Amino acid sequence: MMSEFMRRIKIFDTTLRDGEQSPGCSMNLGEKLEMAAQLEKLGVDVIEAGFAVSSPEDFESVRQIAALLKKTTVASLARATKSDIDTAFDAVKEAKKPRIHVFLASSDIHLQHKLHMTREEMLQQTGEMVRYAKSLVQDIEFSAEDASRTDWEFLAKVYETAIANGANVINVPDTVGYVTPQEMFEMISYLKQHVKGIEQAEISVHCHNDLGMAAANSLASVRAGAAQVECTLNGIGERAGNASMEEIIMALRTRQSYYHAETGIDTTNIYKSCKKLSAITGVPIGPTKPVVGANAFAHEAGIHQHGVLNDRLTYEIMTPESVGISHNTMVLGKHSGRHAFDEKLKAMGYTLSKEDLAKAFADFKKLADLKKNVTDRDLEALLAGAAKLEIEEVYTLESYVVSSSSVNSASAMVKLGVKAPDGKEIHEGTGVGAGPINAALSAIDAVTGRDYTLENFSIQAVTEGDDALGEVVVRLKNSGGTVVSGRGLDVDIIGASLQAYVNAMNRMAYKAE
Ligand code: KIV
Ligand code: ZN
Repeated sequence: MMSEFMRRIKIFDTTLRDGEQSPGCSMNLGEKLEMAAQLEKLGVDVIEAGFAVSSPEDFESVRQIAALLKKTTVASLARATKSDIDTAFDAVKEAKKPRIHVFLASSDIHLQHKLHMTREEMLQQTGEMVRYAKSLVQDIEFSAEDASRTDWEFLAKVYETAIANGANVINVPDTVGYVTPQEMFEMISYLKQHVKGIEQAEISVHCHNDLGMAAANSLASVRAGAAQVECTLNGIGERAGNASMEEIIMALRTRQSYYHAETGIDTTNIYKSCKKLSAITGVPIGPTKPVVGANAFAHEAGIHQHGVLNDRLTYEIMTPESVGISHNTMVLGKHSGRHAFDEKLKAMGYTLSKEDLAKAFADFKKLADLKKNVTDRDLEALLAGAAKLEIEEVYTLESYVVSSSSVNSASAMVKLGVKAPDGKEIHEGTGVGAGPINAALSAIDAVTGRDYTLENFSIQAVTEGDDALGEVVVRLKNSGGTVVSGRGLDVDIIGASLQAYVNAMNRMAYKAE
C-alpha cells in the first residue's frame, strides 16, 4: 500500500555501542562481527560499531566491522576532541561508507557539573570539532548529549553551529529517558523551525527507555519530521535500555497509513536477529516483549482463540510470519539426513557457511537422539546459539552425574576439562546442594575455586511439548564488578544449567585476560 507520500526513515543501529555497554551485554570480536553481518542482512542503514577510543578491543571491532560490511554505513562514536576523532577516523576509514559521530553535552546540568564549561565554550568546541571531523570524512553526525534537558533556544544554536561546520546529521538524544512523546514532537518541530540551515541536515533521534517511552518518543519524532531513528535490538542499552528497533519498525509498518513512513528493513529477519543477539549475550527476551517475546503472538484466552480461528484480524494486528516467526510445520527426526536438514534451513531463511552448516547438523543430530521430533522452534533455538565463542575455552563440560530426591539433599559429580599448557586436563569435582542444579554448580565451583557471584539464573522452555528444549541463562559477577552472561540449551535442564555456567566462566576468563 505504498504511496508517493511515503517518507523513508533511516535506521541507525547502536546495539554494538550503546547496547553493548550495558551490563551483561558485552560481546567479543567474533560475536560483534556476527551481529554486524546479521544487522546488514536485516537492512539497517547505519551501524554504530563502537566507541573506538574507549579500548583497543573496541577500536579493533570497529575497524573489522568497517572492513566487513558491504553497503551499510559504519560509524564510530567520538567525544568532541581531536584525539577521539582521530581514533574514530582510523577505525572507520576502510568502510565503504564511513561516518564519525561526534558528541558533546549541551544541557546546563552537564555543562556545569560534568564538563565545567560555559555555553559559549560548548558552542566553540562544537564548531571546531565538527569542522575537524569533516576534514577527515564527509559523513558527520553531531549529537548534543542530554538535548532533551537543554534550553531549546540554546539547543537550536548548538545544532546551527554543528551544521554550519559540516554536520549532515544532527542527533537529538533523550539521554536520560526523561521526555514524553508530546514534548519530543514539540522539540523536533521547534528545531525544524528555528535551526538555520536545518534543510542541509537530517534530524535524528536517540531515545532511552527510563520511563518506558523510548519507542513512543522515537515515533513521535518521526511524525514531527525526524529522518533517522537510533535504536537497538531487543532495546538493550544503558539502564532501562534504548528504543527497541523491532517495536519501532513494526509500528511504522503496521501503522503505515498513520506515519506515512517506511524503512529499508527486511522485517522477516527481525525475529532471527533478536534471537541471535539474545543467544550471543545470554540476555533473555522477556515473554511479553512486543514483537519478539514468546507470548507476542500467543492467544491464550478462549474468546481470543475462537476469534483468531475465524479470522486472524480479530486479535492480530501483524502476523508472526511478517517478523520471521515460521509456522511449526515440518518436523525432522533422528533419521532425517543432511539433505533434508539443509533444505529445511533454507526454507526457514537461513544461509549458513559450510562450516556453520556442518556444526548445526551435528547439533541437530545430537538433539534428534534425545527428542523424537525436532521442530522449527527447536532449530531456531539451536541456530540462535550457534554463534561460536571465538575465544579459547578455558573450561569444557565433559560429563556429570546428579542425584536428587525428596528425602536427601542433592549431590553431584562433574568432570570438567581445564585448559593446560599441553592440551587439557580433566578435573573432577563433587558438590551437594538444596537441589540438583545447586549441587551441580557447586561441583564446578569445587574445581574452579569460585571467585564470582551468581547474579541471576533463569530457565525457560523455548520449544513446545514434554521434551521441550530448556534454555538456561546465568549472569555472573566477579569481585572487580565485571558482569558476564552465559547460555545453555538442552533437553536436560541440568545439562543446560551446567553449559550456561561453563559458558559464562569462559567469558569471564576471556575478559580477565
Ligand atoms: O544517550 C546518549 O546521549 C548517547 C549519545 C552519545 C548519542 O548515547
Ligand atoms: Zn544513548
